[in-house]
Amino acid sequence: MIPGLANPSIGFPFPINDWILIAMKILVTGGAGFIGSNFIRLLLQEKPQWVVVNFDKLTYCGNLENLKDIQGEKRYRFVHGDIANKQAVDTLLAEDHFDAIINFAAESHVDRSILDPSPFMRTNIEGTMVLLEGANKYQIKKFVQVSTDEVYGSISRGSFSELSNLSSGSPYSASKAAADLLCLAYWNTYKTPVSITRCTNNYGPYQFPEKLIPLAISNVLEGKAIPVYGDGLNVRDWIYVEDHCRGLLAVLEKGKPGEVYNIAGSSEKTNLDIVQTLLKQLGKKQDMIEFVKDRPGHDRRYSLDDRKIRKELSWKPLYNFDEAIKLTVNWYSENESWWQRIRTGEYLKYYEKMYLSR
Ligand code: NAD
Ligand code: TYD
Repeated sequence: MIPGLANPSIGFPFPINDWILIAMKILVTGGAGFIGSNFIRLLLQEKPQWVVVNFDKLTYCGNLENLKDIQGEKRYRFVHGDIANKQAVDTLLAEDHFDAIINFAAESHVDRSILDPSPFMRTNIEGTMVLLEGANKYQIKKFVQVSTDEVYGSISRGSFSELSNLSSGSPYSASKAAADLLCLAYWNTYKTPVSITRCTNNYGPYQFPEKLIPLAISNVLEGKAIPVYGDGLNVRDWIYVEDHCRGLLAVLEKGKPGEVYNIAGSSEKTNLDIVQTLLKQLGKKQDMIEFVKDRPGHDRRYSLDDRKIRKELSWKPLYNFDEAIKLTVNWYSENESWWQRIRTGEYLKYYEKMYLSR
């Protein structure tokens, strides 16, 4: 069997759409964060012949503890570095021959992008460009850009399809939209084989406790109130992180270059629904909810139509919200030391700035 050619019966050269990868070497950027670490774990489990290099800058939310259980795995290696550093990316790509790149590396929190947008522009836009340049120079066969439903902006009725216009509402989503446009421009201009995924809000193990669900659970476990922005009626569509990662794997293996794939959880909830569910699961009273000043420019509702990935790549979520939110609450309850180590020092300064002044 030829490494990298999974279906030899197709013959070579084979159409890139029919690509099914075997014995692949994958560069995962931002793999020490929430979704990236869950993805690496899933990939090593589902693809016993694949090898993974995790390239991560270890910003405030990058945490090697998220991958502690796989540190001894021979098919996994960590490299400390910044995707916006051209020299570092070039050195990495020159040393190792990668078949594919999947880019998770990002500044990912809307509230932080409101406080200071500049790191978002550097990592999310410039960093993506550096990776695309590297993909061209080293003839990478597949590039997956992990993007977000937030690039479409808010929608009052119906759902966005992959053909909908981009209309970002925050500096974070504007930086992700710019990166998406760059990826499509590289496909159009250089035929860089990029596929883009746009997913809804994730939840599950190892999410940094500045995002709604882990923040709410850890606050309650510490006896603190849950801050709910505005009237609490903003709607997000929630997906369990493992389902997102399975969608990403499907796109990595079978996604077409130049195409966008929406990935949805099909579980739209108001923020109030979410925190009420969490309080119920934790056996606490609803008076732990504290309404605070709204986020500026707060998008009202996100909603995706994901029929394309379901039809073309045979993906669908395996978890329903009720069971996966229980798994999530249990995980944070059983792994207090993980989030308690985070909720010190810098985190407390951020928390104070964000909430105590609201
Ligand atoms: P995260 O903030 O938990 O992790 C981001 C990771 O990227 C961290 O490990 C960080 O150290 C690393 N990183 C940041 N800047 C870097 C740089 N310049 N070079 C190398 N590494 C760098 O984010 P996440 O929630 O895991 O999100 C991962 C990706 O998925 C992001 O691109 C985000 O836009 C996208 N996404 C997230 C969600 C969600 O609900 N969390 C939904 C849809 C899409
Ligand atoms: P968040 O987890 O920050 O994700 P995003 O802004 O990318 O959707 O927030 C999810 C929703 O919860 C969003 O509408 C903002 C709201 N929210 C609160 O009400 N309180 C909080 O403390 C946080 C962090 C978010």
